[in-house]
Amino acid sequence: MTDASATASPDAMIRLENLTKAYPGQAEPAIDGLSLEIPRGEIVVFVGPSGCGKTTLMKLINRLIEPTSGRIVIDGRDVTEMNPDELRRGIGYAIQQTGLFPHRTVAQNIATVPKLLGWPAEKVSARVDELLTMVGLAPDTYRDRYPKQLSGGQQQRVGVARALAADPAVMLMDEPFGAIDPITREALQNEFLRIQRDIRKTIVFVTHDIDEAVKLGDRIAVFGPGGRIAQYDTPEAVLSDPADDYVAEFIGAGAYVKRLTLTRLSRVEAATDWPTVPSSAGREARLAALRSADRDFVLVLDDERRPAGWLGRDLAADDDRLTGDGLPLLSSLGPDDTLFDALNAMLASNADVVVVTGEDGRYRGTLGMAAIQELIHTASPSSGAGAASPAAGAERSAGRDRGGPDSPGKDSPGKEVR
Ligand SMILES: Nc1ncnc2c1ncn2[C@@H]1O[C@H](COP(=O)(O)OP(=O)(O)OP(=O)(O)O)[C@@H](O)[C@H]1O
Ligand SMILES: [Mg+2]
Repeated sequence: MTDASATASPDAMIRLENLTKAYPGQAEPAIDGLSLEIPRGEIVVFVGPSGCGKTTLMKLINRLIEPTSGRIVIDGRDVTEMNPDELRRGIGYAIQQTGLFPHRTVAQNIATVPKLLGWPAEKVSARVDELLTMVGLAPDTYRDRYPKQLSGGQQQRVGVARALAADPAVMLMDEPFGAIDPITREALQNEFLRIQRDIRKTIVFVTHDIDEAVKLGDRIAVFGPGGRIAQYDTPEAVLSDPADDYVAEFIGAGAYVKRLTLTRLSRVEAATDWPTVPSSAGREARLAALRSADRDFVLVLDDERRPAGWLGRDLAADDDRLTGDGLPLLSSLGPDDTLFDALNAMLASNADVVVVTGEDGRYRGTLGMAAIQELIHTASPSSGAGAASPAAGAERSAGRDRGGPDSPGKDSPGKEVR
């Protein structure tokens, strides 16, 4: 029904062409004429309400079920021309509710596909230990346990390890972190992103949860009832430009706050007009800087131009404090921090500005509340950067250019906060 190929990447790992699946006896097809391209090395998240056909689509991709019509092409090959067993061994599948074999140990579960592929025993056991370590389970402790001797979150980790075992190019993950408490879930998501930074698989990831989709996806496909794709785009574009009322409602409240977490400071231009003074400056020079400043605070920079502290006008009368490094610098944010972190730091320190540094810790500029507001309202990768904002605040900082369509993608999708 929906042709999403307009937004596709030229280097598609998985291509779905006009795909339809009608289960026997079903009035409406579960999937109806769906076309979609999944770029190589990206995480594409299918998000949508229960029953909209997400699991059906996963099963179609690895041929656990056959389409009624349409084509599925993986890495240039039509899957219907492939031997299903061979196909499945090349695809890691972490299924909804983990699906571990209850009568096999953790090690035996993980070893399933490598054994089918006839790997030698030493290679299999080395791989099992490597994967257990990768997903944060100590091999000596967990290798010989049975699934029921693990917590739900640990079982899901084993499920992910099993899907990764034979180093497949494609991973299908159907709600792998569902039914897990929010804290463990966040830890698993962060681990997942960290692992993906190294392994760069093509991953189709299913979730009900829009926050999880925004956090993990390089792209998001928002599904509506009947397997319709309501929108397929980057998280930024989906949040800032929902395609229709259905998508807007699905995103729910807080779209702007969600967007804050997507924007790293490395992609934000900082204002460079804040008055500064070198820490080597003496009493007179400091007083002069304060006097000529159009702000109540002057930023002190050390010999390496790293932020050392704020010097306030109220210190002018206090020689000792005037010649020290000023007030402590409550918050200084690096390139990996996000606009969310910047706003949080402002609220925490009750300031209306934060100091931004580069990778080397040197001063890059400042970011103010008005600039953040402007960024959130104008920066939209899908609609092009730099749209004029009528509300351009007094802080003429923070370029709106945080990435147009041709900007580098999310180089590291992790949202870790230093
Ligand atoms: N084997 C089947 N026979 C008949 N209908 C089916 C079968 N499997 C799924 N369906 C129907 O197809 C539709 C899509 O189901 P699917 O499992 O793909 O949904 P889903 O998006 O994965 O849902 P959830 O988020 O609850 O896992 C549903 O209406 C479901 O009832
Ligand atoms: Mg499902």
